[in-house]
Amino acid sequence: MAPRSWGWWTEQKLDILGDYLAAFTTACKRAGQTVYLDLFAGQPDNVSRDGAERVIRGSARRALDTQPPLSVLRFFELDSNAKGLRIALTGEYPGRVADFEVVPGNCNLTVPAVLAGLADLNWAPTFAFLDQQSTEVRWATIEQLARHKRPGTTKTELWLLCASGLLPRGLRMRTEEIDTSVAEQMTKMFGTDIWLEGLTAVRQNLLTGTQFRRTHESHALAPRARPRIYDDPGLPGHQYQRARDLRHDLRHRPLGRRENHDRALLQGDGADSFA
Ligand SMILES: C[S@@+](CC[C@H](N)C(=O)[O-])C[C@H]1O[C@@H](n2cnc3c(N)ncnc32)[C@H](O)[C@@H]1O
Repeated sequence: MAPRSWGWWTEQKLDILGDYLAAFTTACKRAGQTVYLDLFAGQPDNVSRDGAERVIRGSARRALDTQPPLSVLRFFELDSNAKGLRIALTGEYPGRVADFEVVPGNCNLTVPAVLAGLADLNWAPTFAFLDQQSTEVRWATIEQLARHKRPGTTKTELWLLCASGLLPRGLRMRTEEIDTSVAEQMTKMFGTDIWLEGLTAVRQNLLTGTQFRRTHESHALAPRARPRIYDDPGLPGHQYQRARDLRHDLRHRPLGRRENHDRALLQGDGADSFA
């Protein structure tokens, strides 16, 4: 498989990860054991896009390079990449094969069994890196990670990449009809479809992209949270009423009906990106 080509931002992200993991294992030294879960572990080889074609060490290698070492590592990756990753890591780290496993398949399906297999380590400091491409992770998976640790211990520490800048393009939010498959995927990631209210409000010029982003930055990952976008006392009366009607429809109609509703009300070009 051809190496994946990466921009500088990816390298910076991985540098930050490497630095953080070293701080994590240093801080957790007294615990004696640490667990690392990499839900989107990547391909065996990656090269920079800066013309120099440098090899970039991905998250799995950064984790295995960490000093003091992480004790137990699980790398989740799709079937198409998993075997290559396992072969590459086994060749490069022959002394660590007892510490790590590459788990093939969709991590949303494989995480529960892996966590069950790590139940006797549910007291140990655990770090999960969710370096998804767009919106592959499901809220249920995040909940399982959060519940993994024994009561009375700190929860699984979790870093989730949420490339919010890519979402408007994926949704085709400037076009008449949004891409419902992307919307469904986002709902599975957020664990709630409340964000659709904000999206529709942006498309109707009731909310600017910046306001929507601010609202969702604080609420996006809180299931069943209700962004209070319609309580804005500054909204003129007719907009307030329209917003109330819209909210009712969004909450009480299935997705297909919501879309029709949204299309009928779509006006103007004020649907600025929420990225
Ligand atoms: C952004 S890349 C991750 C890069 C990786 N962290 C690294 O540093 O090399 C996302 C990876 O997730 C994998 N992937 C996508 N969906 C997945 C899923 N549902 N379960 C497991 N892996 C998945 C892709 O094959 C891809 O290699």
